[in-house]
Amino acid sequence: MKTVLRSDKIGKNFGGLRALDNIDLNINQGEIVAVIGPNGAGKTTLFNCITGMHEPTDGKIKVTPPEKTEVCVNGLKPNKITELGLARTFQNIRLFNKMTVLQNVMVGRHCRNKNTFLEAIIRNARFKREEKQTLEYSLHLLETFGLVEHRHQLAENLPYADQRRLEISRALATDPFLLLLDEPAAGMNPHETFELDQLILKIRDEKKISILLIEHDMKLVMRISDRIFVMNQGKNIADGSPQEIRNNETVIQAYLGVE
Ligand SMILES: Nc1ncnc2c1ncn2[C@@H]1O[C@H](COP(=O)(O)OP(=O)(O)OP(=O)(O)O)[C@@H](O)[C@H]1O
Ligand SMILES: [Mg+2]
Repeated sequence: MKTVLRSDKIGKNFGGLRALDNIDLNINQGEIVAVIGPNGAGKTTLFNCITGMHEPTDGKIKVTPPEKTEVCVNGLKPNKITELGLARTFQNIRLFNKMTVLQNVMVGRHCRNKNTFLEAIIRNARFKREEKQTLEYSLHLLETFGLVEHRHQLAENLPYADQRRLEISRALATDPFLLLLDEPAAGMNPHETFELDQLILKIRDEKKISILLIEHDMKLVMRISDRIFVMNQGKNIADGSPQEIRNNETVIQAYLGVE
């Protein structure tokens, strides 16, 4: 199976704190991999290193976009990493609050458009064609996420669960081969979480992308993950199938508890 992301002994220091230590994580095409672990384990820091918000202190992160050769992303800016085909959502939702739902998704899509600033001013045929495609694709995503009837509302006026779904739609609009979701079910009730399960599986199956997911909701993690990567105090303490992780003594002691 093709590997789409390979992190090789990643480390990240914040002053004297070793937030990531020797992290080796591989993600294969089409896999859903969950990253779990207690608060402060380094999960979000790992996402920040993969998506260019932080540069790792040591180690290398390499990605292989479809039909391209492997690229090292250390030191690349977040927008370059998005262009390569990685997209993410944030633990604390980061939408454009004063823009509409539709505009939020269209902004995501614009990174794939090829028209120039001049073409946008003169509104030539290519610009108009791309704008039409952007609109159609954005509406299609909103339809998939059950948000199309809210398309003219301001993002800030959406209920919390819808804001989380909108953030995923915007990330998907960039056409990623790897989608990183940081606690997508946070603040959702069990019914909304179950709907999210179905949506994540559908995205993976229909769009043939890989998904890396940080989540504290163990029911969701156990239901949809192909593999679980467990972190504690910056280190990887286990990596295996949901069944293996559920029965792993070290993981039970560090995170899952006896229940
Ligand atoms: N920008 C930063 N500057 C300094 N320290 C940081 C920074 N970002 C994270 N840390 C520290 O690194 C450690 C790992 O934090 P991180 O946010 O990655 O944890 P997490 O596993 O995502 O936790 P949670 O489940 O609470 O979201 C913590 O001790 C945190 O305080
Ligand atoms: Mg976090």
